[in-house]
Amino acid sequence: MKTNIVLIGFMGAGKSLVANILSHKYKMRCLSTDETVEKKAGRKVSEIFQKDGEARFRQMEKAAVKEISESQNVIVDCGGGIVLDPDNVKALKKKGILFYLQASPEVVLKRLKDHKNRPLLQVDNPLERIKELMKERKKLYEQADFTIFTDQQTIEQTALAVVALWKPKAANQKSDSSTK
Ligand code: S3P
Repeated sequence: MKTNIVLIGFMGAGKSLVANILSHKYKMRCLSTDETVEKKAGRKVSEIFQKDGEARFRQMEKAAVKEISESQNVIVDCGGGIVLDPDNVKALKKKGILFYLQASPEVVLKRLKDHKNRPLLQVDNPLERIKELMKERKKLYEQADFTIFTDQQTIEQTALAVVALWKPKAANQKSDSSTK
């Protein structure tokens, strides 16, 4: 049964904030791929990017996804690049329902403009970079079970939207498994 709520989407889409709200509301543990990597490495994501490069970060991220995907009844807060590796999506789908939190490039820039902890956006023209990366990843994010548009929503509204989609799906699964 798919008991995990998995949040995917671009940086700044609100995944971590929504994950925290849901975690408190439903008393479900929240597991973040970035935090898992940081704990294992003993370093921040930005430092890993800087010292070891993106490829090494992606390896560590993949190991984190593999571990987290074994859990049940958790909320998974995924780093924005998780979808780049098809194995990650496959692993997360085994026990989870995937929600793609979508945001436009302009909104992402506005939400992240004072944050210096996104190594991929430390460039002269972050808006262009955001647009490029989003274009590359659009189809990959769309592998989610549901898409939620976040531009016009507060974090609370986005969390409610996740719940509204998740509850009937979770209930369906329960009745399916009880009739089998
Ligand atoms: C990344 C997103 C970040 C973090 C890393 C790379 C990406 O996570 O994993 O900086 O490739 O989009 P958030 O989406 O939580 O910011």
